[in-house]
Amino acid sequence: MEVPSFSSLEFNQNRSLQEQLQQYLTEWICSGRLVSGTRLPASRRLALELGISRNTVTTVLEQLRSEGFLESMPGKGVFVSAVLPKDIKGLPQVRWTKKIPLPALSDFGEALNQTPLSEHSQILPFTPGMPDLAAFPKKTWLQIQRRHQDRIPLMGYQGGQGYTPLRESLSEYLRLSRGVRCTPEQIIITQGAQQAISLCAQILLNEGDPVLVENPGYIGARKAFQARRSELIPCPLGANGIDVDLICNDKIKNAHKAKLMYITPSHQYPLGGILTAAQRLKLLDWASTKNTWLIEDDYDSEFHFYHKPIASLQGMAEQTPVIYMGSFSKTLFPALRLGYLVVPEALAKVFIKAKSFMGGESPLLTQAVVADFINEGHFVRHLRRMRLLYQDKWQHLNTLLSDELSENVKPIAQSAGMHLAIEIPYVNDSKLKEAFNLKGYGSSALSSYFLDKPSKSGLVLGFANTTMAQREEGIRVLKSLIKPVK
Ligand SMILES: Cc1ncc(COP(=O)(O)O)c(C=O)c1O
Repeated sequence: MEVPSFSSLEFNQNRSLQEQLQQYLTEWICSGRLVSGTRLPASRRLALELGISRNTVTTVLEQLRSEGFLESMPGKGVFVSAVLPKDIKGLPQVRWTKKIPLPALSDFGEALNQTPLSEHSQILPFTPGMPDLAAFPKKTWLQIQRRHQDRIPLMGYQGGQGYTPLRESLSEYLRLSRGVRCTPEQIIITQGAQQAISLCAQILLNEGDPVLVENPGYIGARKAFQARRSELIPCPLGANGIDVDLICNDKIKNAHKAKLMYITPSHQYPLGGILTAAQRLKLLDWASTKNTWLIEDDYDSEFHFYHKPIASLQGMAEQTPVIYMGSFSKTLFPALRLGYLVVPEALAKVFIKAKSFMGGESPLLTQAVVADFINEGHFVRHLRRMRLLYQDKWQHLNTLLSDELSENVKPIAQSAGMHLAIEIPYVNDSKLKEAFNLKGYGSSALSSYFLDKPSKSGLVLGFANTTMAQREEGIRVLKSLIKPVK
């Protein structure tokens, strides 16, 4: 326990030092500034720190000990008593113990305060968004890390845009594997895709600007836009993701006023769905005509099995109003907190400036390790292995669901990559999720992804980080919990 600094105590000439020290220490103990169990400095050190005689200090400590405020443990020292005297008469009113109302939060802070904490703060089997952590090539990672960990250039500041070799290897990877048009100068390394979304919200939106979002869709993005007091305009999904025809044919109220549209066109979150090339071009055309930013979140397109991966929306034309983003959370692991933005060249500077005061630089050592991990071929090898592994896990989960739960549950096949969304009609999915959680399994309620009245109930199950036994046991547990709403 931390001991407050005694040197801040001031003594005056009007009363004896002994009396004043006794009062200070008693007040500190009663106010909780010195909590039970705190070890006091030895009397010699305390006397030196206070600039008074050791005799005075020992007399006061002895007095407080006899009153029950302190207790000494032979060979260990003097501590604030575990149980303090109840009746503390004659002490002045202590400011520290008074409950004073705290100053008000912002409207956004107040609204956020009313919502529950993220349900994914714990890693459980079936928590969505978690890659197979045990299958990560830790040995290789550590070997690369050892090479870099005492490099002095990685210990300082390097500039907010991100480590140059990482931006170089990333731009090559994105060009080759995702069809993104980019140079290293257009890339900004972020603290995950979540920070990338928040930066877009800060830089592209004025307070109150309308934003089109997928419905159902990613909650973290909505939160970032709400922090700008945006009016969220929900856009329903069609068979392949966001319903492009509804938007382009002006069938969504106020859609034409949207300053920005957030989409996951290569694997709609959470239901899967991939916009066709024709739909992408139509959307690009609409956005250019309406002067609307398109935020393309390519959070996990390395892993989905129902359709072949499709190139990015950003890469489809030379001049597009698209900001592309991705993350290493799914391809490597979430605790890295590394993501990236690809912005039009003219915007790179403003994003770098915003990032410098919204979270600062991303850790250089980690960026250097990721750069070598990519350059030496480990990244592509790891993705290849994980694709096969997750596909096996998906098939196993599907078999279990059809063997055990085919009557109650409809898996949404195209959602599968690292998670599987399952529709469970007529069920209170928030309660089901809570009950499943109490049995030790993570998941998300499908209804929680809707902005308005949910049209589906069910669960989103992250399967990438599950073992075979966890999947088998988990589905048995789920079966026992599903109770239709009467
Ligand atoms: C659709 C989507 N976008 C962005 C993120 C945020 O990822 P990151 O961990 O990189 O912040 C997630 C996280 O699960 C996600 O599902």
